Amino acid sequence: MEQITDYLCRYKNYNFTIGSTTPEHIDSLQSFQIRDSDIFLVTYPKSGTIWTQQIIISICELSEGLNEYPNNLEQMPWLEYTEGREDYGLRPSPRLFASHLTPTLMPPGLKDKKAKVIYVMRNPKDNVVSYYHFSRVWAELETPKSFGQFLEQYLAGNVGASSWFDHIRQWTSSRDQYNILFLTYEDMILDLKGAVTKICRFLGKHLSEAAVNQVVEKSTFQAMQKDLKANYEFLPPERASGKFMRKGEWTIGDWKNIFTPAQSERLDRLLQERLGDLSLKFVWE
Ligand code: A3P
Repeated sequence: MEQITDYLCRYKNYNFTIGSTTPEHIDSLQSFQIRDSDIFLVTYPKSGTIWTQQIIISICELSEGLNEYPNNLEQMPWLEYTEGREDYGLRPSPRLFASHLTPTLMPPGLKDKKAKVIYVMRNPKDNVVSYYHFSRVWAELETPKSFGQFLEQYLAGNVGASSWFDHIRQWTSSRDQYNILFLTYEDMILDLKGAVTKICRFLGKHLSEAAVNQVVEKSTFQAMQKDLKANYEFLPPERASGKFMRKGEWTIGDWKNIFTPAQSERLDRLLQERLGDLSLKFVWE
């Protein structure tokens, strides 16, 4: 692993935060035994990971029940990190995993297309704003000097999880190789019940109308803020001086409070240049 800054190291073309994993662990994922019933949630950071984590966990709990763990992080552990890792081969099914990895680093067994992958993306302007605020409070990330400086690093892919553009391209262009559902953060904001219903259908979970409503209630920003298993406030205060659940309202279009017109135009241009051929549609406000 090559150290590239005081906070980041690089392995196989991907930036990890220092101390979060080892090359041996990342290599071991190439022989990770996938079960047909496994469910993977994949995101670029700050795209609504812990929100979707709560939705998937609630759906599984209400459909067939789940072995209970103390919090959502342990219920749906991060595939690539070594902290708290256990022998996942001993876990009962269905196993739930979260990941920020790109397709080439994921277990090849996922390409059997039986296990399920849910990929959530967020418009890059709100994504970088969320990432910027998070970097200011998360001890393992470099504290940005300014939004402008962070935006440069983000656009160059010099942040944890590397380039947002590469992440989106790699996952969307390999969609035929996976049993995958694509969702956007904005779709979830605009129609949470619709998103929950879509996820249920994709996972093959049959929930009553009342159970779907229960999942929705447990997954609102207000409910999650109070839910100690879901809001990540169980992490020790020395790791985070702020919250994963940051804003809740106006999280589509928060970028307008911080981007200059020139920064916004620059991102629009880059989006067109780098991902224009994918015809992605983002909701910006
Ligand atoms: P903001 O920083 O824009 O508020 P991740 O979980 O991938 O780190 O993403 C964090 C973002 O998801 C934060 O965005 C956070 O507020 C938002 N989020 C978390 N739970 C949410 C919920 N239930 N409803 C809406 N947004 C939520």
